[in-house]
Amino acid sequence: MCGIIGYIGHREAAPVLLKGLQRLEYRGYDSAGVAIFANGGSRDGILVRRSVGKLTNLDRLLQDQPVHGSIGMGHTRWATHGRPSEENAHPHRAGKIVVIHNGIIENYLDLRHKLQAKGRTFNSETDTEVISHLIDDYIQQGLSFTLATRAALKQLEGAFSIVVLCEDEPGKILTAKNATPIVIGLGEHENFVASDVPALLEYTRKVTFLEDGEMAEVTREYVTLSDFQGQPIEREPRTIEWDTVTAQKSGYKHFLLKEIHEQPQAIIDTMRGRILPEESDVSLGEFDEHSELLNSIQRIALVACGTAWHACLAGKFYLEELARIPVEVDYGSEFRYRNSPLERHAAILAVSQSGETADTLAALEGGKSLGLPALAICNVVDASIPRRSDIVLYTHAGPEISVASTKAFTTQLTALYLLSVYLGRRRGVLDEGRGRQLIDDLINLPAQVQEILTKTKHIEKIAKKYGHAKDFLYLGRGVNYPIALEGALKLKEISYIHAEGYPAGEMKHGPIALIDEEMPVVVLLPKDPVYAKTLSNMKEVEARGGRIIAITDAPSPELEDIAWEVIQVPTTNHLLMPILLTIPLQLLAYYSAVYRDTDVDQPRNLAKSVTVE
Ligand code: G6P
Repeated sequence: MCGIIGYIGHREAAPVLLKGLQRLEYRGYDSAGVAIFANGGSRDGILVRRSVGKLTNLDRLLQDQPVHGSIGMGHTRWATHGRPSEENAHPHRAGKIVVIHNGIIENYLDLRHKLQAKGRTFNSETDTEVISHLIDDYIQQGLSFTLATRAALKQLEGAFSIVVLCEDEPGKILTAKNATPIVIGLGEHENFVASDVPALLEYTRKVTFLEDGEMAEVTREYVTLSDFQGQPIEREPRTIEWDTVTAQKSGYKHFLLKEIHEQPQAIIDTMRGRILPEESDVSLGEFDEHSELLNSIQRIALVACGTAWHACLAGKFYLEELARIPVEVDYGSEFRYRNSPLERHAAILAVSQSGETADTLAALEGGKSLGLPALAICNVVDASIPRRSDIVLYTHAGPEISVASTKAFTTQLTALYLLSVYLGRRRGVLDEGRGRQLIDDLINLPAQVQEILTKTKHIEKIAKKYGHAKDFLYLGRGVNYPIALEGALKLKEISYIHAEGYPAGEMKHGPIALIDEEMPVVVLLPKDPVYAKTLSNMKEVEARGGRIIAITDAPSPELEDIAWEVIQVPTTNHLLMPILLTIPLQLLAYYSAVYRDTDVDQPRNLAKSVTVE
C-alpha cells in the first residue's frame, strides 16, 4: 500500500524524505509527492511537489524546483480511489492543511458531499482530500490544529494512517492511525514518522508504534501520544535490531535476487536458539508459557493471504502429520466473512510477512471474537498482527523489500515445521528417534538450499528458452501442491506470464485440455511415496506434447527421456522437500522476469503490504 514518511529536525527534509520513500517504494509506486515547510515556515509556508510514476520523477522535479526546509512529509501511492495522476497524488491540500494518507476512508463520499454543501471545492478524486478539508473546516471554526485533527479523526470510518501539516504551526507534525501502520522514529533533536521501519533505520533504531485509535504530536524535541478522545498515552520506545545494510541491495541487481540468496541464512535465523539436538526437540520459548492452552487445542484454523497462504497449505501437512492436529486453511478475506463454527478447543493462527495485511488481521480478529486463542507467525517484529496475538513465532528473516515474497515464504515453512515438531513432541506423536531425524534434516537444510543457489546458470538458461511462453502449468502432489501454486504465483507476479498451479492428480479433470507443444509444464517430482503417481501424470503431459520441466531429487534415464529439462535438487525428508523445490521455482520466475525485462522488484499493480480490503 502507500508509503508514508515524515520528518522534523535539523536536516534538509527533501533528501531525508526521498531516501525514506525509496525504502518504502515497494508499498506503492504509481505516484509520489512531498510537502515541506519552506525555510522553516517563515516565508513561503508549505510547498508541495508531486509527480506521476516512479520516485525518480519526483526526484527530478525536486532538482528542478527545490524546496529547502527541515520539516516535511512524503508519500508513495498505490491507487485505490482515483487513477494515478498528479491531481490524485498526495499530499492533498485544503486551506491551511496538507495531508498524506494510507488506507481507505469508507465514508468519504458522505463526508465529501457534506463538505461540498458547505462550499468546499475538491481538486482530486481521492478519499484523502476529504481529510484535509475536514480538518481545515474545523480550523476555520476556530479549533487549534490538534483539536481540529482530533475532531476530524472521530468522523473517519475505515482503515487509515495519516500525517498532517498545518500552515499555522510549522513546529509540529501530527500523525494518527486506525488499522494501517504508523511507526515513529525517535532521534536527537529530530523525529520521524513512517509507515514501515526500513524508512527510519538509517537515522534511528529507537521507535514507537502507534496503536489503532491513537494519534501523536511530533516536534523536534518531543513526541506525545494520545487517543482520539484526547486521553494521554505513555509508551516505552522499542529498539529495532535490523540495520540499514540488510535493507539494501548489497551488489545484487535486484532485491528479489538478493532475498532469494539470503534464504540459507534466513532459515538459520528462523531456527536459531530453537533447536535442541540433544533432546531431539524444539524449544519455542514464547510457547512454553502457554503449554496448557497448546495441549488443549484440537483444531487450528490457519489464515493468510498470497504467498503466506501457500505456506499455510503446506503447514496443514506439517501440523496434521507431525502433531496430529486437524487444520483448516482460509484466505484472510474469506475467513473474515465466513460464519465459522469454530469455538471450543480451536485456535486461529495468522501467517504474515508484514504483519499488516488487512484481511489477515481482520480474520485474526474474527477468530478472537469467537473466543479462539490467537497465534501468529510473522516476520516484522511488533507489527499489528503479532501485537494482536497471544503467542507469536517470529521468522527473523530480516527485511523483505522486493514485492514478491521469497525468503519470507521459506522461513514461514521453517517456522511451521518447527511448530509442528514442537507440538508433536509435546503431544506424544513424535518419539525421540523421529524427532531427532526431523531436526537433523532441518539442520542440514540451509546447506542444501545453498547448494541449489550455486547452480543457477542452468535455471537461467531454461528461463531464456521458455520465457516467451504465454502460459505455464505447475503440477505437484500432496505437500508439494502448494509449492506448485507458489511457483505459478511467482511467475505471474514478476514476469506477467499467465501460470496455473494444479494438483498433479487433478490435471486430467480440466487443465489437460490446455496442453499443447507451446505449453511448458513444471512438474515437482520428489522421490516420495507418490513419485510413481506423479510420473504417470507427467507421461500424460508428454503424450500431449507438453514441454516438461521436471524438478526432482531423483533424476533417472527414464525421467530424462520424458522431460525436456531436469533440474536436480538435493534430497531430504518429504516435508522439507517443498523448501528445496521452491528455490528453483523462484529462480525460474526471477530469470523469466529478467528475460522479459519487467520491473522485478516492483511489479505493476502489486504492493508489498496490502493494508486495504
Ligand atoms: C501482498 C504481497 C504478497 C504477500 C501478501 C501477503 O499481496 O504482494 O507477496 O504474500 O501480500 O502479505 P503478508 O505480509 O501478510 O505475508
